[in-house]
Amino acid sequence: MLRVNYYNMMSAPDLVGLPVSCLDALVAKGKTVHTALMAQQQAGDLYFVDILDQSPSERQHIQDLAAKVRGNYENLAILGIGGSSLGPIAVHQALNGPFYNERVLQGMVDGPRIFFLDNVDPDTLAIFAKTVDLTKTCFNVISKSGGTTETLAQMLWIIDQLKALNPDGWKDQLIITTDPDRGSFRSLVHSGNFASLPIPYPLGGRYTVLSAVGLLPAATVGLDIDGLLAGAKAMRERCTSADLRENPAYLLGALHYLADQHGHNIAVMMPYSDRLYGFAQWFGQLWAESLGKKFATTGEIVSTGQTPVSARGTTDQHSQVQLYAEGPHDKLISFLRLAEPSPALPITSDGLGEPGFQFLIGAEFGQLLNAEEQAIEFALRQFGCISYTLELQRLDAPTLGAMIYLYELATVFAGGLYGVNPLDQPGVELGKVLTFGLMGRSGYEEQKSAIQGYQTERQKSPYVME
Ligand code: PA5
Repeated sequence: MLRVNYYNMMSAPDLVGLPVSCLDALVAKGKTVHTALMAQQQAGDLYFVDILDQSPSERQHIQDLAAKVRGNYENLAILGIGGSSLGPIAVHQALNGPFYNERVLQGMVDGPRIFFLDNVDPDTLAIFAKTVDLTKTCFNVISKSGGTTETLAQMLWIIDQLKALNPDGWKDQLIITTDPDRGSFRSLVHSGNFASLPIPYPLGGRYTVLSAVGLLPAATVGLDIDGLLAGAKAMRERCTSADLRENPAYLLGALHYLADQHGHNIAVMMPYSDRLYGFAQWFGQLWAESLGKKFATTGEIVSTGQTPVSARGTTDQHSQVQLYAEGPHDKLISFLRLAEPSPALPITSDGLGEPGFQFLIGAEFGQLLNAEEQAIEFALRQFGCISYTLELQRLDAPTLGAMIYLYELATVFAGGLYGVNPLDQPGVELGKVLTFGLMGRSGYEEQKSAIQGYQTERQKSPYVME
């Protein structure tokens, strides 16, 4: 269902690519990483591998809740951020496609509309509350840690609105997806008796998409969650070899790692499919937070990471490709494309009497989309850019599940090659605690005075122009 073609990464007379020998030279190190990953998995630390085996009763619970939401509400709103939002968005976008909410309104699709509130921008929140009937909306609050400020703020605000609108039944409008035992959201579930779903503890936020985090929203908007899990399991079967030359996830991890080692420290993911743009953004978080690390697991300062960028074909050909072609060759471009984009949509026209229009008449949009992808792939090769292409036979739930697992495993394998921990994110902590300080949270007075001191200095600095 998936094929990786990395011809445009390996050196050739017309391309400054990676020497073929460098992949072979990484095989032994890859085997060491594999052994370490196996040990981590045995210890239960690579839980995105095990989450695929959730029991039929766990899946049934998700389906039952989804059916309840479908039967009782016009809208589902997801309150969550980072991995608690990007995964559900990627799945919904890929499998439901564009204009979904509009199609629900038109009666073309049966199911609730879905909204993702993944920020604390008052503009968005206020417009949402004015636009959507809150009494007909189910809120799925998602937080792995059960303490993320943005999600907490959204939840508190929504509960206040709901209490006013639906004093007797507001609690029924919430489903809280969080850690089964820890965190303040779990305490709330217990004390308030809210409907809830668990996110098993060892799963890090950005690896949760195939848990209840992604599955409840997906099932609610009518998607095939069994298919997603089956596809991921099929990819798990495909990715068992310790040899990176035989394991597609390890190969991808190794190609990205080697590209970075050779100066290509930007990873552009460029799907030629509007539906896969959310996947590219999900990958962006996975890659950035997992591999962008100051310290190696040995404690040595390494400052690793390849900066992920999402682009969209063909749209960004008219925005970014000039830079990719003639700017610094510091990028690895991964093209995602469908073997046969559907539906068959011909460009019907009489040509309006213009000879220059004729070449398009009778061609299909999918043919044009793929021709453009092939043209850009080749053109960028001519300019000396390296790239690989992930080709999908079709875009369905099993293929998407397989892609999710493929990149999750590629990420932890790359983490092993870099020698960093791909499961933590210590670099985001400082910003969090400084926010606590600024918002007056007790226990964060030191952070408050540190940031206030900085703000005063900044205010007085000569480097300001009006
Ligand atoms: O990968 C991670 O752990 C983070 O990016 C989280 O997804 C993000 O911070 C949201 O966290 P939580 O789900 O705990 O609210």
